[in-house]
Amino acid sequence: MTDLALAIDFGTSNSAAALVQDGRLRRLTLDGTADTLPTAVFFPAEPGPMRIGSAAVSALVAGEEGRFMRALKSVLGTPLFHEPRPIGGRRRTLAEVVTAFLAETKTRAEAQTGLRFSRVLAGRPVHFHADPGRDARALADLTGCLSAAGFTEIGFCPEPEAAARASADLTGTRLGLIVDIGGGTSDFSLFRVVGGRVEIVASHGIRLGGTDFDRAIALDHVMPLLGQGGQLRREFGPGLLPMPNEIFVDLATWAKIPFLYTQDTRKAVAHLAKFAVAPQPIARLARVIEDELGHDLAFAVERGKIEANAGKPGAMIRMGKIERGLYAEIDAVSMAAALARARADLGAALAETCRLAGIAPASVETAVLVGGSSLMGLVGQAVAATFPQARQEQGDAFTAVVDGLALTAAGA
Ligand SMILES: Nc1ncnc2c1ncn2[C@@H]1O[C@H](COP(=O)(O)OP(=O)(O)OP(=O)(O)O)[C@@H](O)[C@H]1O
Ligand SMILES: [Mg+2]
Repeated sequence: MTDLALAIDFGTSNSAAALVQDGRLRRLTLDGTADTLPTAVFFPAEPGPMRIGSAAVSALVAGEEGRFMRALKSVLGTPLFHEPRPIGGRRRTLAEVVTAFLAETKTRAEAQTGLRFSRVLAGRPVHFHADPGRDARALADLTGCLSAAGFTEIGFCPEPEAAARASADLTGTRLGLIVDIGGGTSDFSLFRVVGGRVEIVASHGIRLGGTDFDRAIALDHVMPLLGQGGQLRREFGPGLLPMPNEIFVDLATWAKIPFLYTQDTRKAVAHLAKFAVAPQPIARLARVIEDELGHDLAFAVERGKIEANAGKPGAMIRMGKIERGLYAEIDAVSMAAALARARADLGAALAETCRLAGIAPASVETAVLVGGSSLMGLVGQAVAATFPQARQEQGDAFTAVVDGLALTAAGA
């Protein structure tokens, strides 16, 4: 057993592990040669081991029979986390699934380093949830999973504070701001660099990330093609009813997708199909539920988002798996409209971070952008609007947090 602590960034979309060994930062490659692995699991329908990371994504893409799950971090702190559900041939809770993912991460880290870890320093968003009770439950849930995965000494560090420690050299600045926009949360830390060391002035965070961008885009661009916003004939009597919205919201929400594949949902969709004024869109919805294509759809939306953000001409959300040739156009303008609310929330959170610190936005010299969603143009725009005079730097989008956790664990 080693005294060294393993740093784990358990992210909504991607996870990573690292440690400082012999005075050097070492990122572990837990998924082939990559520095990070998708926070995804796949339980095959046939008896067989759970797969994680890119192997789980490959199983989904290949259309293997089984249960795929991603974005489970966003369920921490909610009652759903402890409800037993049929997953991979038996009833299990999401807590057990997250535990299995973390245990496998630990096993791979140990295989790669030849060490046995009992200590872990894990990242946490500044707030999992805005509600303090729910936030405390989320932290307790993650602690429980890390403990069940075999760690006996468990510490946490706010993700943006870790990122600040990994990025301070890069800025050479006196007052800086980390803007960490991930898959599930947006987190901010204002920091000073004093004598080469990072001092955190204040941190703030909101529950908004790339999976929320995906949901907003799906609801705007995709769900109307699947019947959202349509009308239903009444079962008895004249007049029309609006299409219920809930199923479309769940289908657009990464963490909720696996729970749509039930007999109840299939029955509900059959009912909608029977009474829909426009039958074709609902037939597509039925196909998605029947053939369990919700995650394929979520990945298609995510790809369309990234294409549109990169300004790729002819960017689109390709849905050929649902219906041959089906697609939704997406461009910078239509995406900005879908994400207007998110952009406003981000701006308000940036201002709130300064307010909490008692610092005038004009005194922030550098803003360091990290997290995969910081690659979205709207993030740079929101930062520029709040801190027009600050220099913007792109940090290591996917590894700044885990690097900073490893440095923090080592007391560096
Ligand atoms: N090139 C890109 N352009 C825009 N968005 C991107 C790009 N690459 C990845 N993303 C988005 O980044 C998000 C994942 O980022 P990241 O891996 O930093 O999140 P995370 O650390 O898992 O989540 P969190 O920290 O919120 O728990 C996803 O929503 C993904 O769609
Ligand atoms: Mg993150």
